[in-house]
Amino acid sequence: MRIFASLSLAVLALALLPAASQTPAAPQVAPKAQLAAQTPPMGWNSWNYFFDKVTDKNIRDSADQIVATGMKDAGYIYVNIDDTWEGERDANGVLHSNAKFPDMKALADYVHSKGLKIGIYSSPGPKTCAGYEGSLDHEAQDAQLYASWGIDYLKYDLCSFIPAVMMKQAPNDHAEQMRIMWAAYDKMDKALKATGRPIVFSFCQYGWDAVWEWAPQVGGNLWRTTGDIQPYWDRIYAIASQQAGLESYSGPGHWNDPDMLEVGNGKLTLAENRSHFSWWAILAAPLLAGNDLPNMKPEIKAILTNRDVIAIDQDPLGRQGARAYSEGEVEVWTRPLSGGALAIAVFNVGDNRYSTHPFHLNLARLGLHGPQSGKDLWTGKFITLTNDQPLELPSHDVLLVRVDELKANVR
Ligand code: GLA
Repeated sequence: MRIFASLSLAVLALALLPAASQTPAAPQVAPKAQLAAQTPPMGWNSWNYFFDKVTDKNIRDSADQIVATGMKDAGYIYVNIDDTWEGERDANGVLHSNAKFPDMKALADYVHSKGLKIGIYSSPGPKTCAGYEGSLDHEAQDAQLYASWGIDYLKYDLCSFIPAVMMKQAPNDHAEQMRIMWAAYDKMDKALKATGRPIVFSFCQYGWDAVWEWAPQVGGNLWRTTGDIQPYWDRIYAIASQQAGLESYSGPGHWNDPDMLEVGNGKLTLAENRSHFSWWAILAAPLLAGNDLPNMKPEIKAILTNRDVIAIDQDPLGRQGARAYSEGEVEVWTRPLSGGALAIAVFNVGDNRYSTHPFHLNLARLGLHGPQSGKDLWTGKFITLTNDQPLELPSHDVLLVRVDELKANVR
């Protein structure tokens, strides 16, 4: 039930998304130093597999598996507890965890003992999306509590703040509602910074009010750009295509977040899992796995730990990729990489599993001239792409190539 409540709030927020032309100007706040998250955060989050059932044991088991599977060595560092860890406040307002999480400090110590970092979740509202205790009017106290436990990452989810504060305080004034929302994120940012502990600050407000335009000014290291992901191709593709045009807002310390990974969840095919992971790498997206790590199949592990694809995501230049062009049911995206390299991703987004969409890649439309040699990151083989080369891609699959020595267009 609580999950349905959470989803309907996210839907409500999306329904309220203003058109770009109605977006009020971002507040004039001086940019803050962004030292955290110089590359998109990588790790694992409990929500996409466990939802409200997550327990202390699931977090410990997942931390163990991140180490045992080689995910830690591949760069997955944050182990993030999502919603439903929260208990009640005591007479002094101090929040306690619920029975599923008997000792948060001991849990954080355990995760740290594995060489990993730990994240937590809250809301600026009175309640979280799943109906647990939020941080409203307890921001400084909660930030201090997280720091005392050794928390390294906070996901802050708007949810009940919309009806309980924004709608209530400014029922008919959209601009004022937005100001109240900015202030809520700014308040928690100040509370986190006051702890003196570096804590990555993740905004979750579903992309409302062009969050990418103002989040860095109020401390956001990453911000969700859409409503919730689900383990279905249509949803993953819809989210991926909504990222086109947001590339200029992302960079070291401040990232667009198209939501956590569904790789290995639901009934996604291997091609869909590959495409999802490739797309998130092209987008310089945070890579927060959300699958059942103790029961991860080898082929899913192979996707999540593909070092070449992770290197695209984590490229130190920190430039998000963009859609170069689309033609029929094929989309071609590119991402500029450090050292003058380029990642090229060709996606067959068509649903017809009997059609491989014979497709002719137009290198000139990517600003390239002549044949380009590079590594196919899913086969590991070196290939040469030529202009108008016919490509055959199964439905929902991807060709992801890294070209290190580009022959640029002479135009
Ligand atoms: C919202 C968020 C999800 C998750 C749930 C938890 O729906 O968008 O990512 O955190 O809340 O209740």
